Amino acid sequence: MERTYLMIKPDGVQRGLIGEIVSRFERKGLKLVGAKLMNVSLERAKLHYAEHEGKDFYERLLVFITAGPVFAMVWEGDQAVALCRALIGKTNALEAAPGTIRSDFAIHTNFNLIHGSDSHDNAEREIGIFFADDELVAYDKAI
Ligand code: CMP
Repeated sequence: MERTYLMIKPDGVQRGLIGEIVSRFERKGLKLVGAKLMNVSLERAKLHYAEHEGKDFYERLLVFITAGPVFAMVWEGDQAVALCRALIGKTNALEAAPGTIRSDFAIHTNFNLIHGSDSHDNAEREIGIFFADDELVAYDKAI
């Protein structure tokens, strides 16, 4: 069982796509173990996007992710990191496969609706940035 961090970005929240996006992961069979609507502080944004510091889109990314509420989530399931990345689609909406979230709803790399962790280690790191342990739930193993 693996966990991953997903975040519907300000464009997805403002376009009213939270329900549409959440339902895709639910229907796939992943378990939602944490979720909250929140504003991202500049400090948290810098921690989250530390690997992109210095890139030409870094400052723009910080402005965007702190511009309005995001919907932060933790999902659990076998190969959750890779599965969620597959459902989300490639970063550039033009390259995202048909049927993925970014292909269906996004047209621009800067406004690509949702972030999904790209590795197991990054997932654990990002979960730690946005969630306290007591904000995550455990499911009955029998269900
Ligand atoms: P995300 O998965 O949140 O990770 C970093 C974000 O930077 C990415 O989605 C895009 O929204 C944004 N970004 C903007 N330009 C680029 C680029 N050239 N390459 C990668 N990410 C970019």
